[in-house]
Amino acid sequence: MISQDSIQQILSRIDIVEIVGSFIKLKKRGANYLGLCPFHNEKTPSFTVSPAKEIYKCFGCGRSGNSIGFLMEAEKYSYVEALRWLAAKYNVEIEETETSPEYKQQQQVADSLYIINHFAQKFFSEALMHSDEGQDIALSYLKQRGFREEIINKFQLGYNPEGRDGFTKAALAAKYNLDYLQKTGLVTVRDGNAFDNYRGRIIFPIHNQSGKVLGFGARIIKKNDKAPKYINSPENEIYVKSKLLYGSYFARQAIDKADECLLVEGYTDVVSLHQSGIENVVASGGTSLTPDQLRLIKKYTSNLTIVYDGDNAGIKAALRGLDLALEESLNVKLVLIPDGEDPDSYVNKLGAVAFRKFVDDNKKDFILFQLDIALRDAGNDSTKKSIVVNQIAETISKINKTEDFTRQQDYIKQCSEILKIEEGGLHALVNKFIREKIGKEENRVSRDQRFAEESIGTEQANAMDDDIAVLLNKDEIHEQAMIRSLLEFGLKDWSPDQKVAEYIFKEIEENQLEELIDNKELVRILRTYKTWFDEGLEPVAKNFLYHEDLQMSALVVSIMDFNYEISPNWKEHFEGHIATRDELFAEEVFSTLNYLKLRKIKRLMDENQHDLEKATLTEEQLMLVQTHQHLKQMEIELTKQLGTVIFR
Ligand code: GTP
Ligand code: MN
Repeated sequence: MISQDSIQQILSRIDIVEIVGSFIKLKKRGANYLGLCPFHNEKTPSFTVSPAKEIYKCFGCGRSGNSIGFLMEAEKYSYVEALRWLAAKYNVEIEETETSPEYKQQQQVADSLYIINHFAQKFFSEALMHSDEGQDIALSYLKQRGFREEIINKFQLGYNPEGRDGFTKAALAAKYNLDYLQKTGLVTVRDGNAFDNYRGRIIFPIHNQSGKVLGFGARIIKKNDKAPKYINSPENEIYVKSKLLYGSYFARQAIDKADECLLVEGYTDVVSLHQSGIENVVASGGTSLTPDQLRLIKKYTSNLTIVYDGDNAGIKAALRGLDLALEESLNVKLVLIPDGEDPDSYVNKLGAVAFRKFVDDNKKDFILFQLDIALRDAGNDSTKKSIVVNQIAETISKINKTEDFTRQQDYIKQCSEILKIEEGGLHALVNKFIREKIGKEENRVSRDQRFAEESIGTEQANAMDDDIAVLLNKDEIHEQAMIRSLLEFGLKDWSPDQKVAEYIFKEIEENQLEELIDNKELVRILRTYKTWFDEGLEPVAKNFLYHEDLQMSALVVSIMDFNYEISPNWKEHFEGHIATRDELFAEEVFSTLNYLKLRKIKRLMDENQHDLEKATLTEEQLMLVQTHQHLKQMEIELTKQLGTVIFR
């Protein structure tokens, strides 16, 4: 785990405007900054960042959070990953405290693998560029294929010599652990002997999003029917094939700028296109895209253009799993390179300008393309044709985001024309699939719910219902207001010898916390505040905003008021001085507390009334009436106090 001290250091440097600003354009407006929300499609900006409160909030989609929450949402980081990203950005050295042994072990392995891969990459580059064998066999091959040194260096291409164990010896001499060397796939052990695994191959390092080498692709040079053309690193702690895209490190900015990602099959396609100046391109290695890869693309753009060879096997692989892209609201287009060519050879033949034009002119819609192929396969077979209709309806049904509704309607229209069926019929079929899907999800939800109820027992399930009831209670606003005044003004002086927080705690003790505040989460915030305060810390909202307990930090974010800053214009126009909340804090603390006390009294009176209606004994009745009078008196007092504060 990252030490509390490091976390404090990181948090002290956080500038939310700078952080959010590195992902979206922000414009200053009053005390806040405004931009287009990165989490939903919008044309007019409603995404607001408050530097003073260090939080963001989108008034369009309702998402809100702090800098860390933003990174978690925008970059799909975990809490710890977000902290590490910030530490790197602000040059804070991270100090680790005790962590679980398994996690530590895994981190240690990962670190070792990165170090070995770095060493290997250097070794292979050196062998390619500076050894006789590398120059004669590998560099000449690459040059003959049209790769220039500049691009070879940029992609850190290399060569593993043919000798049995050149790399293995160097790595062992440098004291790298043999187990880890095997884990990277660079070294194999057979009959007690360790030797190189990628002998006589061109090496393509595969980088993660920050440029570190995750693993390698190794291409054979000499034609050999027995050996596979490519060997890739085995899956290990850092090389997880389903989560990476070759070239994404070099392409991310270009993808962002072009608002389009080109997807090709091979390593050489990526490198060639880059060399020609087309840089918004990544490769999947010829397999179908995984959800993680689609999400990686979605971080940078919603427009995916698949550029594949015309041969059928590759396309089918590419098309598989693309229904998922629709669910992610990706806009998928397909471009087929003419027979016998691939993007690498074709861009070498045409040049970048003509290649780009070819791509632009030949973009086919993915759904319509799929329909086209399927129809051609089906021919005149009417059974096969009805299967096609079903398939296309199912695909269209996957377009399910509200903002994509028009797109879905367009597809229904176009596909029904191509299929020569009635638009209404296809419409009904699509709706059937949507209903089935919702049905399945509901089943899942109710199953999960049943499971939850069984495992936590009905008592707690009822308590959950109560929580929901509380949420729906408008009174919660007042509970929140009280916590907000504690968070904001707790450290101010209430009286010469008492802080606001101490005053609040004393009042609460006298009134019993649970009877004042229904929401258990708010109670938890208050308790946490008190623990910190009693320990001599000085809790402020920020401590909560960055609390590791995300439920708590989210609640604090939602409590913090965004709009109370008085606009400068208003100040100018207003004669005289307007008291700010900060100046009126004592009244706010007093009135929010008293409101809750008043509510408690009202509830007690209701209960008392209820008892009175049922009471039969005179003695009992008398006591209840007295209680009522007592409560009534308290109510009057409180109302009076509230009134004097509010209307003074
Ligand atoms: P060149 O032939 O050098 O231009 O490479 P290429 O990238 O054009 O290769 P190809 O079109 O044959 O294959 C496309 C991609 O599929 C490659 O870049 C690899 O990622 C993958 N691939 C091809 N052959 C193999 C193989 O034998 N094994 C593995 N694991 N992957 C392969
Ligand atoms: Mn090729």
